[in-house]
Amino acid sequence: MLVTIEGIDGTGKSTLLAALKERLSDLDPVFTREPGATWVGESVRRAIAEQIDPITEATLFVADHAAHLATVVRPALAAGKLVISDRYSDSRFAYQSVTLGSVIPNPEGWLRAMHNGWSIVPDKTILLVIPVDDALARLATKSGHEHFERREILEKVQNRYLEFARAEPDRFVVVDAMLDKDEVARFVADTIRLVVVEGGKRKRK
Ligand code: TYD
Repeated sequence: MLVTIEGIDGTGKSTLLAALKERLSDLDPVFTREPGATWVGESVRRAIAEQIDPITEATLFVADHAAHLATVVRPALAAGKLVISDRYSDSRFAYQSVTLGSVIPNPEGWLRAMHNGWSIVPDKTILLVIPVDDALARLATKSGHEHFERREILEKVQNRYLEFARAEPDRFVVVDAMLDKDEVARFVADTIRLVVVEGGKRKRK
């Protein structure tokens, strides 16, 4: 089973992931991430830092995804593992459809088409949602900022995410990231356990 964790910067994804590692340790999941599960992620980091042109950046994110699938996700799924990815394709569909908004006519269609036929759709996607002001306040306390971490961008990115959740209500679980962090962790851990149980039932049928 493949579960992905998504949300704008500042939603507390890192804190949640750390808590899930403890709470779900009995399931022995493979924790992974985009960008950066392979060396391709290093070029992505460089592209982000240098603010290279948006098409280059977007295609590097897709290259990172391809390498991630080939080296981490597919082998783990083939071995029957639960895979939990900190960001995945919806990050591209949300962020790059914003960064490419004034560059190409239909960025989301272009990005989705680039994934068609080879990418794997997650079984469940946890979407952390937070008022953009609160996300910015949380980000203000950390050092080093990516060019995505601006109000105009994050507002649009979160709206895209919410549209995706409305379009695929069975896949997305929207979580209020303003709730107490233990409560968020407990709810998400329970949700992932259900996904695993339901996946097991489907396999037995
Ligand atoms: P991430 O490593 O999750 O952020 P952090 O450095 O805070 O841990 O992701 C880095 C940035 O890249 C983040 O602002 C989201 C963005 N991103 C995209 O724009 N597209 C993508 O496809 C992915 C995976 C991330």
